[in-house]
Amino acid sequence: MRVTLRVKRSDAAGSAPARWDQFEVEAEPTDRVLDCLHAVQWYQDGTLGFRRSCGHGVCGSDAMLINGRNRLACKVLIQDVPQPIVIEPMRGFRVLKDLVVDMDEFFAKYRAVKPYLIADEPAPERERLQRPQERERFDDTTKCILCGACTTSCPSFWANKEYLGPAAIVQAHRFIFDSRDQGKAQRTAILNDKSGVWRCRTIFNCTEACPRGINVTKAIGEVKKLLLKMGRRG
Ligand code: SF4
Ligand code: FES
Repeated sequence: MRVTLRVKRSDAAGSAPARWDQFEVEAEPTDRVLDCLHAVQWYQDGTLGFRRSCGHGVCGSDAMLINGRNRLACKVLIQDVPQPIVIEPMRGFRVLKDLVVDMDEFFAKYRAVKPYLIADEPAPERERLQRPQERERFDDTTKCILCGACTTSCPSFWANKEYLGPAAIVQAHRFIFDSRDQGKAQRTAILNDKSGVWRCRTIFNCTEACPRGINVTKAIGEVKKLLLKMGRRG
């Protein structure tokens, strides 16, 4: 079948205004949007810029706006989207080139919530044990692949780029509710900051955008509840 793509293009230096380019490619209905982008890059316009790595919904590098929704290009089948397929970079991040956005700030916020196990006690001889019910408590937020789809679909983030954003809160949740972790006080202090969870207005865009099906809004709500329980409120 013939597929029409409309792609928002921007120069690396941002020297010229963004423009729309249209491409026609041959594809199977079961091909992915990522396959079509490759067909353009390999056979029509080698200057088209986009990120990808795994090609199978695991690395999170090819999140982009597809027909107005943040999606992973490697997970969207051509047969499931109306044409022309309109493709833009995620909103709210600086565009480096075409569909490639600057994610430095995004990963700085990820690092800010200390996304690793903090345990003061000496390591046991074998692993730190945990009951299945304790593991279940944060299972949902372990699924995050740091694609940025939630944060860049959040109006609170668009309005205030200082906001940590849903993805960083999801990462904090994963450790805060881990029975083996002892970094709750450090992380909740960061999350209670004026750029932390209270910027969330429970809009649910993040949950809708997440390609891993994580209930992001629920996770943020659980962090808010915990802060209230700890007597913290902004
Ligand atoms: S929570 Fe979902 S949308 Fe947000 S960064 Fe993680 S995987 Fe991507
Ligand atoms: S290329 Fe890795 S998630 Fe799509």
